[in-house]
Amino acid sequence: VIEKRELVSLLRGATNLQAADCVGDALFLRAANTRSRAYGDAIYLRALIELSNFCRRRCAYCGIGAFNRDLGRYRIQEAALLAASKEAAACGYRTVVLQAGEDPELVGKAGSRLVASWIRRIKETGIARVTLSLGAPDGDALSRWRDAGADRYLMRFETSNPALYGALHPGDSLRARLRDIERLQTLGYEVGSGMLVGLPGQRIEDVANDVLLCRDLDLDMIGIGPYLPHPAAPLSSKSVPKEVSGSELIYRVIAATRLLCPRANIPATTALETRDRTAASSSGDRARPSVDAAGQLRALRCGANVIMINFSPQSVRRLYALYPNKATDLAGSEATIALENRTAAAGYRAAVDHVGDALRPQVDAR
Ligand code: 5AD
Repeated sequence: VIEKRELVSLLRGATNLQAADCVGDALFLRAANTRSRAYGDAIYLRALIELSNFCRRRCAYCGIGAFNRDLGRYRIQEAALLAASKEAAACGYRTVVLQAGEDPELVGKAGSRLVASWIRRIKETGIARVTLSLGAPDGDALSRWRDAGADRYLMRFETSNPALYGALHPGDSLRARLRDIERLQTLGYEVGSGMLVGLPGQRIEDVANDVLLCRDLDLDMIGIGPYLPHPAAPLSSKSVPKEVSGSELIYRVIAATRLLCPRANIPATTALETRDRTAASSSGDRARPSVDAAGQLRALRCGANVIMINFSPQSVRRLYALYPNKATDLAGSEATIALENRTAAAGYRAAVDHVGDALRPQVDAR
């Protein structure tokens, strides 16, 4: 059992786990071993469809918050949604992730019925699992969507520090967020949560607490991304404390999370890949293509086991800009092939057609 103090020093890179016979960083090697005990060499792929960039929230870090009046807003048409989901099914996918801002037209009463009908129709297209990431909806939408066939829900707690949570999320509290996450678990969803790393106002102890909270919530999925400043978001003017600003920290956080949460599905996030690619291009490595996936491959070596591939309609992708520089160039089918090749070259097997359900707790109890 890893405790808080040890975790902090692992995250700082100060302590190494004992592994006299290992070459390289023992934290990363241990995490990679834990990953392969649970999942072998499989990488689960999910098809991501971004439904809407309308949002009623004002999360201080996010580029699609209600404060951003310069952003063109879109909401997907049903026909385009079903086309994207069929395209994913044709590529072999069995899981789609439906993500959106907290759009009143989707999370209000009428909208939640529309989303329920979309879930039913998607499941008729050969998709076995539907994951939702639509924010905190009104009324009984979560149970309505579950009844309609939704299997999984992603709702990050973003930070486990209540004061920081409050400062970043006007009108909301960490307590309310955790209550929603608990409700998702009660309703029988596979539940994903997670956090942002490298936020203004964040300390390394906060990040350690985030990892411990992931463990305590017994999550099925854990999304961990670096905070990327968006020029239109209020937080972008604030500086990031040095102790959480290093580019290696995110990998240590992923590895530590894998050690504490061995059975969780942990994605190599798009934000991580975006940051890595942005850093490479500003350091003069211009020609690097978006299929490179170096940041994501590194995350896989640190314990991640899932990658989401964007199947959103090409015409709306640039509008779904939670942070700058997100790659939007490759169609889902092209990105899938590129990822399969890249992961195979790195010794993994991209299992596009695997439903990728969360392992049950007893499977990995060791
Ligand atoms: N940088 C990185 N991740 C972000 N998210 C939102 N804005 C940003 C940003 N500027 C993340 C949040 C949210 C997820 C969908 O995207 O953690 O939960």
